[in-house]
Amino acid sequence: MEFLTETKIINESRQGEVYSDTSAKAELTSRSNRKFLLETYGCQMNFSDSEIVASVLSGEGYSPTTDYSTTDLILLNTCSIRENAELKIFQRLKELNVMKKKKPGLLIGILGCMAERLKHRLLEEEKIVDIVVGPDAYRDLPKLVSLAEGGEKGINVLLSREETYADISPVRIHSNGITAFISIMRGCDNMCSFCVVPFTRGRERSRNPETIVKEAKELFDKGFNEVTLLGQNVDSYNWSDTTHKLNFSGLLEKVAIIHPELRVRFMTSHPKDMSDEVLLTMKKYDNLCKAVHLPVQSGSTRILELMKREYTREWYLDRIKSIRNILGEDCGITTDIMAGFCTETEEDHQQTLSLMEQVNFDYAYTFVYSERPGTLAERNFKDDIPEEIKKRRLQEIIALQNKCSLISNQKDLHKRYQVLIESVSKKSSAFLYGRNSQNKGVVFPKDENKFGEYVEVEVLDYSIGTLKGVVITNNKSLAQVTF
Ligand code: 5AD
Ligand code: SF4
Repeated sequence: MEFLTETKIINESRQGEVYSDTSAKAELTSRSNRKFLLETYGCQMNFSDSEIVASVLSGEGYSPTTDYSTTDLILLNTCSIRENAELKIFQRLKELNVMKKKKPGLLIGILGCMAERLKHRLLEEEKIVDIVVGPDAYRDLPKLVSLAEGGEKGINVLLSREETYADISPVRIHSNGITAFISIMRGCDNMCSFCVVPFTRGRERSRNPETIVKEAKELFDKGFNEVTLLGQNVDSYNWSDTTHKLNFSGLLEKVAIIHPELRVRFMTSHPKDMSDEVLLTMKKYDNLCKAVHLPVQSGSTRILELMKREYTREWYLDRIKSIRNILGEDCGITTDIMAGFCTETEEDHQQTLSLMEQVNFDYAYTFVYSERPGTLAERNFKDDIPEEIKKRRLQEIIALQNKCSLISNQKDLHKRYQVLIESVSKKSSAFLYGRNSQNKGVVFPKDENKFGEYVEVEVLDYSIGTLKGVVITNNKSLAQVTF
């Protein structure tokens, strides 16, 4: 799963817009003037969960706000994946403590992975926390908030084998109105030895496909043009009831046929499970985006074995070969790489670098190994790579990836791509920003184009992180630009 670790995105209140659940409005109670503010940290799954939380609370008459001075409740949806992510939340809690002292009655809640992992410690040691809710207990939030309003602590960290929030219509607090996340499954049954997720998010369960298709259709009808299907390991999506069985490839097909103008992405794929069947389905539909996020973690089979990833270097390279055989060179491939896992030698590290050169990933999310309490690695191995060596290896990985990204983007020069316009470019308001099917960011001069439109862009320039081009109409460039 791609992590937005360093980002803190605060919800933008979109009350009154089409995204709010209208049935909720009918139920407004005495709480209707109560406000909540959600801060979300971590991966896309957390961002998607925050939209479930917003829906649950809106159904009880609370409304979202971004204003710290008027909010009654601040909820932090947290991440435990690396120690740093948790330290940041503790720091944030200190800041909120100051705020709470000035505003008695303000309630503070911790949601998500840290709530699950640290439970009582948060309530007992960090006295400022009033509410602690794990990822499977969001339906209980209104009750827990009520308890906290009455001066008690509200806690529910029970993990579930069934909960998928299938019937909850997310309130799109993080959305730009063009692209949206749809959670298709929860939890993870893999036991990668470094990873805390199976402990914080529980067992894997797949969501009823009818509710997924319904959600995607509703988004399209509201004007959204892109959905990203989310799961820790989408390839093991597996729905069955008494009459039906559906795997991930089947689900992709169901979402693809909703409308050719609805783009469909997904993440995250697992190399041990990613099948040719999925790749063939991607090939069959133009609107299934040609991009695969396939975390490799390490290029050394020995380390992969210690990580319990259940594939070898050769297996991973074979999966890459399949992507390129079936979808051609134009399929975007991104990855996650971790430096300094337990016992990693210089030779293991060189193998990671050589795999990166061999694949030439378009982009890589890179991390140093961070030992997490309770994981298999913490119990069985020593975290024995000194911090400065981890950091040096990470720097070498980043430097190589920058080179690979540049090569990848250079290959796109003079190619034409369909781009879905999402926003104004961060660097200049004279430019717009969108992504191509391969999930690369593309900027181009603004002209008459509007957000949510598809345009064809010819690439005329590039940097490590972005393609730059011009919009083509009637097979002609609209304008020549100096970048
Ligand atoms: N330390 C560092 N990185 C980690 N990841 C998962 N667990 C850890 C950890 N303990 C990384 C992996 C995963 C991504 C989401 O986060 O690369 O694919
Ligand atoms: Fe963690 Fe591995 Fe599951 Fe991904 S597949 S969430 S890395 S255990």
